[in-house]
Amino acid sequence: EKGTYAHYMLKEIHEQPGVMRKIIQEYQDEKGELKIDKDIVKAVRKADRIYIVACGTSYNAGLVGKEYLEKWAGVPTEVHVASEFVYNMPLLSKKPLFIFISQSGETADSRAVLVAIKELGHTALTITNVPGSTLSREADHTLILHAGPEIAVASTKAYTAQIAVLAILAQVVAKDAGIKVDVDLLPELAKVTAAITAVIDDAHTIEGFATEFLETTRNAFFIGRTMDYYVGVEGSLKLKEISYIQAEGFAGGELKHGTIALIEDGTPVIALATQESVNLSIRGNVKEVVARGAKPLIVAMEGLEQDGDTYVIPQVHEMLAPLVSVVVTQLLAYYAALHRGCDVDKPRNLAKSVTVE
Ligand code: M6R
Repeated sequence: EKGTYAHYMLKEIHEQPGVMRKIIQEYQDEKGELKIDKDIVKAVRKADRIYIVACGTSYNAGLVGKEYLEKWAGVPTEVHVASEFVYNMPLLSKKPLFIFISQSGETADSRAVLVAIKELGHTALTITNVPGSTLSREADHTLILHAGPEIAVASTKAYTAQIAVLAILAQVVAKDAGIKVDVDLLPELAKVTAAITAVIDDAHTIEGFATEFLETTRNAFFIGRTMDYYVGVEGSLKLKEISYIQAEGFAGGELKHGTIALIEDGTPVIALATQESVNLSIRGNVKEVVARGAKPLIVAMEGLEQDGDTYVIPQVHEMLAPLVSVVVTQLLAYYAALHRGCDVDKPRNLAKSVTVE
């Protein structure tokens, strides 16, 4: 039930701190250490390469997850769109492990890849919100998201849950492999939970940005580098699907190779700045678009903020910043859609779970 919320999407955005707490609890042992089923850890350790396969928002979560699996667990990882992978399989490594990410566990495009790689005799792990779903039943292993039912077509809490579970998986594998990781994930996830809560408590401010920047625009761009680029891609998908604004997420450095031609007077450009190593370069990209008339909405992380930033999210470990910055983009999309009179929970032409190819 929606309860006091106007829409399921808003309710599900608000549920994210609770989902983070639930995940922290579910993936902890009695000693307070992160835990993942031993067979799953073994399967990852055996792999010489991970292939993440997913669609839509789950694919976008995979982009962030790849960073954890490579930087923490040390396993080379590729992320693929399921509908492409099935027709154009890359040259596989000798010992691949497939990770299917799917909120519903029913997405036909992802299932087609699962069937194909099982025929080849490969191992599959499904990360899903729905125990007993098709992708869970047909894979060798399952990790559950514990996000609770997601009803709104636009995925929100499943995305943050997917990222949190991938982070936990990467850390448990790293520990098992004796790799030292300088991110103490449990306390960092607790900080993330508090930061998400702070952003949600500020929803009214973000609603103001949605009306100021997005209520009447035809198009919008998201820019970011590294982790922020991935969040921009997810933020643009959310905005497109529920507000029908034509939106795209771009890597900040790629703009000048063509996309910048689309910037006109007043074009909203949402820039994400949560990553220290690219803070200066993304600021440079903002200047480039502003010089061409763009209206910048800059979302920075505390510690990296500069004069003129529109919104500052609380400081968390920068590897986990997507879990917080994405909530700003979810609220922007929600309020943009609301003020444009769109059917937030049931956008046109879309179904919650895409069970046809
Ligand atoms: O259930 P799945 O995670 O497999 O669904 C994948 C996509 O269809 C889904 O994420 C879609 O992109 C959402 N509507 C995005 O908000």
